[in-house]
Amino acid sequence: MNRKVICIFMLAASLRGVPVMGQIEVNYDESKVPEYVLPDVLTCADGTVVSSVREWERHRRPEVMALLSHLEYGVTPKGMKKVHVKHKVLQENKQALDGLATMQQVQFTFTGQGKTVEALLLVFIPNARQGRVPVFIGYNFRGNHSVLDDESILYSPYFQQLENREDPVLQRGNQSSRWAVRDIVSRGYALATMCYQDIFPDHAEGGPQSVTALCAPEGESSTAWQALGAWAWGSSRIADWVIRQRWANKHQLAIMGHSRQGKAALWAGAQDKRFAVVISNDSGCGGAALSKRAFGERVGRITSSFPHWFCPNFSLYAGREQELPFDQHELLALIAPRYLYVASAQEDQWADPRGEYLAAYYASPVYALYGFSGLPSPDMPAIHHPIMNHIGYHIRAGVHDVTDYDWACYLDFCDKAFGR
Ligand code: GCU
Repeated sequence: MNRKVICIFMLAASLRGVPVMGQIEVNYDESKVPEYVLPDVLTCADGTVVSSVREWERHRRPEVMALLSHLEYGVTPKGMKKVHVKHKVLQENKQALDGLATMQQVQFTFTGQGKTVEALLLVFIPNARQGRVPVFIGYNFRGNHSVLDDESILYSPYFQQLENREDPVLQRGNQSSRWAVRDIVSRGYALATMCYQDIFPDHAEGGPQSVTALCAPEGESSTAWQALGAWAWGSSRIADWVIRQRWANKHQLAIMGHSRQGKAALWAGAQDKRFAVVISNDSGCGGAALSKRAFGERVGRITSSFPHWFCPNFSLYAGREQELPFDQHELLALIAPRYLYVASAQEDQWADPRGEYLAAYYASPVYALYGFSGLPSPDMPAIHHPIMNHIGYHIRAGVHDVTDYDWACYLDFCDKAFGR
């Protein structure tokens, strides 16, 4: 075990057995945000200040990766490289969306340790294309059938198991407002989406049915990966398939995730440099929002409501955010020098829009090292005034959701990133 990892263990161990403060009320009052000091993203554990890309990539970046994987998201086991993935195109419709797109449905079969997990990828490829196209990769919450009202879309494996076929979640297109499929395809982008439940069923007992069961646990149980780590791993497996398709531009992959999937998209983007654009939509606590602001959802609340998302170490910081040796701006900085977009919604105070903006702002010094501009000021832009530098940001009116407005901004941002 290297020195860096030993230090992290000592940090976490010093908190074990320390009683956690009782359930604290949720704060939505800016004047009650505690005084906090963010770790400087460019200062190494030994106090050295990074001033070059080389030092960032050689020393500080691996340090931040180690902190986040050992104390927040869990370590992705090396044994996952041995998981076998088989793909089978189950269906193709060249005239989907009134001829705008070719729709494919691809079965993924993951095998390891004698167990199998199945998932279904739903893909829309623009028919009016010249050459290879950029691709959005993103998980849906309610199954592939929820993305578009189309009878030919197969139910995702997680939903195939539902016994009550009248269940409203099986209604086709029930979340189509979150997927601007026609706009995406009309602007020349492909979309590849899968139901996140296929990769890790989203409940406390989901582990044994998830991809995490396909390889033996490694390392300390306190740093074991769970759902967020598994969802991030799954996005990379989608990318593996996408980049082998003759219609796809492997240099133009954008990952987009909403809410819990925004958290997973950021973690995927931090680990997998093939994602040239990383988009967090309303990701909040454990995503883009700074934990130390203790505004809206907090570490204690998220780790008790969703004990299967983070590694066990993260819950040690319940009510003790000021003792975290990192914050979420450092997660965002791991995406540099690739394009990053953070979006918030005005009424989504649970996700702390200001904390999301500030994290992106405090990630900017790493972009500056590469000669790129992140966010220019700690003051948030007005509603519906997106900023589109190497880091993008907008806050829109309305509630926690994904809207056509969000997608319009992501498409503009990707056009800029990909020089279209
Ligand atoms: C809950 C949770 C959030 C999460 C959200 C979602 O509100 O507290 O952390 O982002 O669900 O995924 O929709």
